[in-house]
Amino acid sequence: MTARTIVSLVLAAVAAAAGPAAAADVAAGKAAAAACAGCHGEEGVSGMPLTPSLAGEPDDFVQWQLVFFRSGSRRSDIMEAVAQSLGNEEIRNLGAYYASLPPPRPQPVPQSDELAQRGAALAVANRCQACHGDTFTGSGAVARLAGQREDVLLKALRDFKSGRRVGSGVASMADATYGLGDDDMQALAHYMATRP
Ligand code: HEC
Ligand code: HEC
Repeated sequence: MTARTIVSLVLAAVAAAAGPAAAADVAAGKAAAAACAGCHGEEGVSGMPLTPSLAGEPDDFVQWQLVFFRSGSRRSDIMEAVAQSLGNEEIRNLGAYYASLPPPRPQPVPQSDELAQRGAALAVANRCQACHGDTFTGSGAVARLAGQREDVLLKALRDFKSGRRVGSGVASMADATYGLGDDDMQALAHYMATRP
C-alpha cells in the first residue's frame, strides 16, 4: 500500500467515524487546542517563526494536515509527534475549533509596496485564486493564505517545489510551484501574508 492510499483510508475512517449524528464539538476542540497554543498562539494566531497561524483555516484543511502528519506523509519532527497522540475525534474537533476563530489581521501595506505588486501579478499569472479563492481565504482541503505568516508561506512553497511536501494525491501544489523561481516565491509569500 502506498502512503497516499493509507492516507485516503485513514481519512475515510475519520469521515466514517464522523457519521451523520456525531457533529464536531467546538468546545472540545478548544480544550484540545490548549496543547497547541504555546506554538500556534492562544487564539490560533502564531507569533512564532516558521509556525503557521491556524485561526480561520478551513476545517477540512486542518484535519487533512493532521492526518498527513500522523501518517508521516507530511514531514515535521514536531508535528508528527503531536499528531500521533491525536485520535480521529480530536482531529475533527480541532478542525472545527480553528475554523471558528477570526483569521489573522495583517498590517496593511502601502499600494506602492513593489514586492506585493509583483506577488499580485504572479498570483494572477499562475491562477492561485482558482483554488485558494478570490481573497485567498481557502475552502475545503485548500489552505487559507491571506494573513498567514510570510516565513510559513515561503517555506511551504519551497517544500512543495522541492517535493519535500506532497499534499493530497492530486499534485496541485507541485504543479503550481513548478515554474516559479525563488524570487517569485518570495514575492508571492509577501503578497499573501499582507492580504487582509
Ligand atoms: C512545539 C510547537 C508545536 C506544537 C505544540 C504544535 N505545533 Fe502544529 N506546527 C508546528 C510547526 C513548527 C508547524 C510547521 C511544520 C512545517 O514546517 O511544515 C506546524 C504545523 C501545523 C499544521 C499545518 C498548518 C499549515 O498551515 O500548514 C497544523 C494543522 C498544526 N500544526 C496543528 C497543530 C495542533 C492541532 C496542535 C495541538 C494538538 C499543534 N499543531 C501543536 C509547531 C507546533
Ligand atoms: C489546483 C489547485 C491549486 C492551485 C492552482 C494553487 N494551490 Fe496552493 N494549495 C492547494 C491545496 C489543495 C493546498 C493544500 C495542500 C496540502 O494538502 O498539503 C495548497 C496549499 C498551499 C500552501 C500551503 C499553505 C499552508 O498553510 O500550509 C501555499 C503557501 C499555497 N498553496 C500557495 C499557492 C500559491 C502561491 C499558488 C499560485 C502560485 C497556489 N497555491 C496555487 C491547491 C492549489
